[in-house]
Amino acid sequence: MRLRTTVNGEPREADGVWEGASLLTALRDHRDLPGSKNACEQGECGSCSVYLDGVLVCSCLVLAAQADGREVVTVEGLADGDDLHAVQRAFVDAGAVQCGFCTPGLVVASHDLLARNPRPSDPEIREALAGNLCRCTGYEKILDAVRLAARRLGEEGAWTS
Ligand code: FES
Ligand code: FES
Repeated sequence: MRLRTTVNGEPREADGVWEGASLLTALRDHRDLPGSKNACEQGECGSCSVYLDGVLVCSCLVLAAQADGREVVTVEGLADGDDLHAVQRAFVDAGAVQCGFCTPGLVVASHDLLARNPRPSDPEIREALAGNLCRCTGYEKILDAVRLAARRLGEEGAWTS
């Protein structure tokens, strides 16, 4: 099938996408966007999280065909060229990245949280990220990263995506 989507602000077309392919597969194999990771392919780890029409989804659970004609934003699309988004930079600066496999999904989920709730409490951060599994960090550094991103975005006085 032919897939037409807007990905990270750019209209894109891909031919030869299998009708049963997931959005995650389409992004990685047909869009050359390997940021979203495939760790479980069952909706349980959050490593494949992207925005679909502004809503956070597990891209492994969405058929590529369901994204046809719609807008997708991946972890790559949060950065401004070579400039990392504040959430991405906070993950690096807080030491919240070890193997990095969970990081793209956590960054997108944290971005979503802070867009909705710029000053989340720790329980709110934990709840928002409950669907994102990390096998390395023990989560404390991830909490630090979200707190740091929230503080920096607050200091900037504006929330930019
Ligand atoms: S790969 Fe999609 S939730 Fe794990
Ligand atoms: S940093 Fe390795 S799974 Fe999270």
